[in-house]
Amino acid sequence: MKKQMLLCAMAFSLVCCPGTPVCANPPVSPSAADELAAVVSSVALKGSRLVLFFYSIDDARSPDAAALMQQLYPQRRQYNFDIAGIALDGARPDAVRLFNAEHGITFPVLIDTDGTLARQLSVESTLGFVLLNERSQRIGFRLASNTPAHMNLRQQWQAYLSALLDMPYVPADRPVLGLNPAAPSFEAVCVDGRKVATSSLHRRKPLALVIFSPRCFNCINELNFLNSLYTGELKDRFEILGLSLLDAEQTAACMRDNGYAFPAIADPEWRIVSRFESFTGPVPCAFFINTRGAIEYVHIGFPERAKDVYRMQLRKLAGMENPPLLIKDGYSGEQRCMICHEKQHAQWMLTGHASAFASLQRKAQANNPDCIGCHVTGYGSPGGYQRGHGPPDLENVQCESCHGPGYQSCSAYAGRKAGKKNAVQWRELCTGCHTEKESLNFVFSRRFMQVRHSAMPDLEALDRAGRIALLDRTGRRQDNPFDNPARYVGADACRACHAGQYRHWLSTAHASLQPDSAADRGKPYRFVTGINAAGGYPEEGRTGVQCEACHGPGERHVQQPEAKGHGFIVGLGAECPSCVVEQICRSCHGAADDPEFDFDRAIERVRHPAS
Ligand code: HEC
Ligand code: HEC
Ligand code: HEC
Ligand code: HEC
Ligand code: HEC
Ligand code: HEC
Ligand code: HEC
Repeated sequence: MKKQMLLCAMAFSLVCCPGTPVCANPPVSPSAADELAAVVSSVALKGSRLVLFFYSIDDARSPDAAALMQQLYPQRRQYNFDIAGIALDGARPDAVRLFNAEHGITFPVLIDTDGTLARQLSVESTLGFVLLNERSQRIGFRLASNTPAHMNLRQQWQAYLSALLDMPYVPADRPVLGLNPAAPSFEAVCVDGRKVATSSLHRRKPLALVIFSPRCFNCINELNFLNSLYTGELKDRFEILGLSLLDAEQTAACMRDNGYAFPAIADPEWRIVSRFESFTGPVPCAFFINTRGAIEYVHIGFPERAKDVYRMQLRKLAGMENPPLLIKDGYSGEQRCMICHEKQHAQWMLTGHASAFASLQRKAQANNPDCIGCHVTGYGSPGGYQRGHGPPDLENVQCESCHGPGYQSCSAYAGRKAGKKNAVQWRELCTGCHTEKESLNFVFSRRFMQVRHSAMPDLEALDRAGRIALLDRTGRRQDNPFDNPARYVGADACRACHAGQYRHWLSTAHASLQPDSAADRGKPYRFVTGINAAGGYPEEGRTGVQCEACHGPGERHVQQPEAKGHGFIVGLGAECPSCVVEQICRSCHGAADDPEFDFDRAIERVRHPAS
């Protein structure tokens, strides 16, 4: 009964129109439906997101799509999702098994024996996927039948899924830390018969290139807004080119009905739009291109708050002076600050502050009031981030988390210099979030150096790949997460006073690891304690992952067991294990070392039982 209810809730959220009595739909094949319900409920129980990948082995693009799913599968734990396949060829289970074996599929696959699952998911394609959030609600989907055969399906799906799952994949047409990729150039005939070539469009003026559908409300909103700049404030200062996903007739009607003065191309077969990798289906999708033909800004969707941002960006590209269009009684968001403070913005992008919200999403805690406060901007303040209401452009620990709302802190807006904070005031601000419990041995003087905007590596020396690597924090390993002046003393020194924990520790694999074992593969730091630190490995008796690998060097604690604070032992009984404990584990069980590492499960194994 319970299973059936769950499937019902799920199927309901999968079907577009609310009110459809999905559960009343007989006949439901009990086995396949139950199996799917079990998968969905077990994934939801873990708080993970779920990609339901359905495929027919006869679809020519299934091998490619399956290869993408297989490529993403090992990263599922790190990014908190799971993958389940649904093979639509229920009548030929053996052929499906053969296909799976041939293509190295290791994710679980359900066989849709009689088309029930396809019907329940409202799938009208032989290849596609549905993405469910941790509450089993549909948050995205793609059908291969919507992607023309000439388009790179795998790339499109990867860009689409990566954006929704916060995985670090950067489409080729995205600017990265000041490097702006060249926009694809093309020539075409517009619906009004004009011939356009992008190179001549952006040669003298910046160009706003907008992929849109005449049937999409947000697209029309965006085009109306751009058109008002085009015919008003920014007249003759920039060009607009529409790329419509509908045919010439429908596109021409849209242009005429809305009185648009700029040209548009009908591209129903996606011949041109397919050259933009950031375009993965959702519209509007806009590219602001500078006079050198390079893409400076990419926007997908059109929230009301974007209007001022677009205006400032286009003015900047047109070489005009810019008023700081900040929000006068709330938080404005880093997108606006970036327009004038590029250098500070690029440096900020390299800190964990810029991806703090993704950290919550990875834990499926982005809606948890106990978590958001320190991972967003202006939480609990007027005009700041609100739980469940965003706005999304205030996710992460942004400029205004440190500087205060822009209307107060930006001298260009406020018309006066904001008083500079002294070290004590900065420390107070930082420790509002970097509390003892959530931030391991937060040593202000050292951490401060990491966030000051002068702490910027030499970007000039780096090409695109180098810059992307710099932005990707997932592969990074901290050599020593303990910012701690004490020496390591070894597990034997702990035994006398913590016999219970010692005994438990002996029962874990950590106690018996050796740096020269076959598993080492040239990563000795994973198999020893306190590598290269004072009193740590290669000192005698520091092999294995000992107490101090998790709790920090113990010299001071052994001398003064009751003393607390920085430099003493780390208790790890934090309210937010993800904030603190996980970082320690990940110094060895990182993405590169141990991609299958499932923190929530692993922590239960190493936690000492109550003695
Ligand atoms: C349209 C351009 C523009 C935008 C947008 C803008 N600023 Fe500024 N900001 C300036 C200028 C110009 C200065 C003065 C620079 C100087 O004094 O050297 C400045 C100064 C500052 C300063 C230094 C203040 C001081 O008194 O020394 C801070 C901090 C600052 N801005 C923060 C922000 C933040 C946060 C945002 C986004 C919410 C933002 N700015 C958006 C143009 C802008
Ligand atoms: C609004 C809360 C908040 C404030 C204020 C704040 N931080 Fe953070 N800080 C965070 C969070 C959350 C993270 C973890 C981000 C993540 O998810 O990786 C973090 C991460 C960091 C990191 C690690 C960066 C990295 O790249 O790994 C440093 C260093 C840091 N903060 C220093 C500071 C300093 C110094 C200040 C004060 C000037 C400060 N923070 C103010 C919330 C805050
Ligand atoms: C009091 C502020 C605060 C609260 C509340 C908070 N965090 Fe954090 N969180 C931080 C800070 C600060 C860091 C950075 C720790 C550091 O680098 O020293 C952090 C780091 C993290 C990280 C690690 C990011 C990385 O580097 O991989 C995760 C994950 C995380 N927090 C999740 C959560 C979750 C889940 C909750 C709710 C249960 C939560 N946080 C509540 C302040 C907070
Ligand atoms: C973690 C806190 C933190 C965050 C987040 C942060 N800043 Fe700063 N900002 C600082 C500190 C610290 C200084 C330097 C103050 C000092 O040296 O006295 C500073 C200085 C500045 C200045 C003055 C010029 C300079 O470079 O010293 C500007 C402008 C500025 N920040 C803009 C921004 C913008 C724009 C963002 C967002 C993209 C941002 N800041 C995010 C902490 C932060
Ligand atoms: C001489 C006895 C003694 C030795 C040796 C000793 N401890 Fe402790 N330890 C204590 C006492 C007593 C406490 C409880 C302190 C308190 O709660 O204030 C404690 C607490 C702890 C805690 C919990 C701290 C907290 O904040 O909750 C950890 C973790 C710990 N010890 C680890 C170790 C490790 C690791 C070693 C070996 C390097 C070690 N201890 C050696 C006596 C000792
Ligand atoms: C793999 C990491 C790891 C290792 C190795 C480890 N611990 Fe712990 N320890 C933890 C965690 C995590 C906690 C917090 C448990 C919790 O929150 O329930 C903890 C808690 C403790 C506590 C606080 C009381 C308690 O039992 O929760 C003591 C004392 C302690 N450890 C001592 C030790 C000693 C002594 C050793 C070595 C013999 C050791 N630990 C090895 C991870 C580790
Ligand atoms: C100093 C490096 C290091 C640290 C820190 C570390 N581990 Fe490990 N852990 C290892 C290595 C190496 C193995 C052996 C398996 C492997 O190679 O991945 C291992 C094995 C494990 C296992 C399998 C153990 C068993 O007995 O079956 C679990 C579970 C585990 N670690 C959890 C954790 C957790 C949770 C943390 C953080 C609280 C942590 N580890 C911290 C290096 C480390």
